[in-house]
Amino acid sequence: MKFLVVGSGAREHIIAKKLKESGARVYSILTTQNPGLIALSEKTFFVNSYLTSKSEIIDFSVVNDIECVVIGPEDPLAQGYADAFWNKGISVVGPTRILAQIETSKGYTRDLLNKYQIDASPKYKRFKNLEGVEEYIRHLSNEYVIKFDGLMGGKGVKVSGEHLNSLEEAIDYCRQIISNKGTFVIEEKLIGEEFSLMSFCDGKNLAHMPAIQDHKRAYEGDVGPNTGGMGCYSDVNHSLPFLRDSEIEEARSINERVSSALFESTGDKYKGILYGGFMVTRDGVKLIEYNARFGDPEAMNLLTLLDDDFASICYSIANNNINETNFLKEASVCKYVVPEGYGSTPAKDATLVVNDSHSNHSDLYYAAVNLCDDGKITTTSSRAAAVVATGKSISEAEEKCELGLSSVKGNKLFIRHDIAKPALIKKRIDHMETIR
Ligand code: AMP
Ligand code: GLY
Repeated sequence: MKFLVVGSGAREHIIAKKLKESGARVYSILTTQNPGLIALSEKTFFVNSYLTSKSEIIDFSVVNDIECVVIGPEDPLAQGYADAFWNKGISVVGPTRILAQIETSKGYTRDLLNKYQIDASPKYKRFKNLEGVEEYIRHLSNEYVIKFDGLMGGKGVKVSGEHLNSLEEAIDYCRQIISNKGTFVIEEKLIGEEFSLMSFCDGKNLAHMPAIQDHKRAYEGDVGPNTGGMGCYSDVNHSLPFLRDSEIEEARSINERVSSALFESTGDKYKGILYGGFMVTRDGVKLIEYNARFGDPEAMNLLTLLDDDFASICYSIANNNINETNFLKEASVCKYVVPEGYGSTPAKDATLVVNDSHSNHSDLYYAAVNLCDDGKITTTSSRAAAVVATGKSISEAEEKCELGLSSVKGNKLFIRHDIAKPALIKKRIDHMETIR
């Protein structure tokens, strides 16, 4: 079967690898010269932007007899690429534009949960201008989060006490959004631990993946700006050390009810990966956000653990017969190598040199880098490469991941080494103990 992978990060690198392992022929659409994807693809098609290339990409797929497309990033989903492929009779893993609103509009998602009485949201209010902002922030006792209501690569969210330290700073951020013609949501700041629960979804049935924890803050100790994600871990039992079984069940049930709500409200089947970003709080599991795609870096952990044929899963998603899927009973740890300053002012001239000995311990997936004519790999302003390892415990996987990372050299690079180390895991467990 001929598959097209849209997207050129580490998530798409592992998607292409898994498809190849299933015996599929892989074609890919790239926005950077990702060496991993180039090596795995029979043919690549380079575009500068998804915004202006939809018809060329559809033509490329038709000419090459593509049978199924896996869309990695949110931008093409937001621009209705799935709709356009289905219109040409090509199956797609990734929701249509209307359903992708679950990610593209935080306000839409909060309203959907309300309408279908899925009680998982913090208090929230949508805003188009400054009217009522001050009052609402006071109503939330100055414990609030301001979210740009659109796509900003995980960087449009500012949390009181962390990124916004006064009412003036909050109003300034709202003004900035308004001046860019945006709208925003202000919501109650939740206290707890975050985790993600992703489900393969065919529009009716869901197959849940192991729970996983990403690290959104740029720097060690969970401080600094929000990023696309610096690294993730998952545990042997497919839960997380700070979660109760009932909380995993609650998250699964929210995904199931949201999939039904999406179908009821749009009449359209959500076919793809439904990514629930949750926080477990004193009052149970709350929704932070939905994504309409595989998480990145979460995909590196979960697809490494996947113990079923990935091409068949994609086919089942498209053909309405997804069943329970199997994942290895192992822990996994993934850490990203990024340019110094990623999240605020990334170093422009960082370089990456990968020594193949990393493969003794781990796998490496290239992200937003470019393979140059002379064989050198240069970074961009985004994440550069992800190293993932599995093990019989989180610590074993973490140690193997670090051994793999030691084979990646370069200048002006940064890694959050604290991710999945025993001290940070203990901090999470202790945090939940003080909250419950
Ligand atoms: P989002 O892009 O909505 O996932 O938000 C990015 C990050 O901001 C999340 O991973 C959380 O760390 C934080 N965040 C978002 N919403 C809330 C909330 N209501 N309460 C506390 N933290 C939040
Ligand atoms: N890792 C979070 C995301 O993919 O948005």
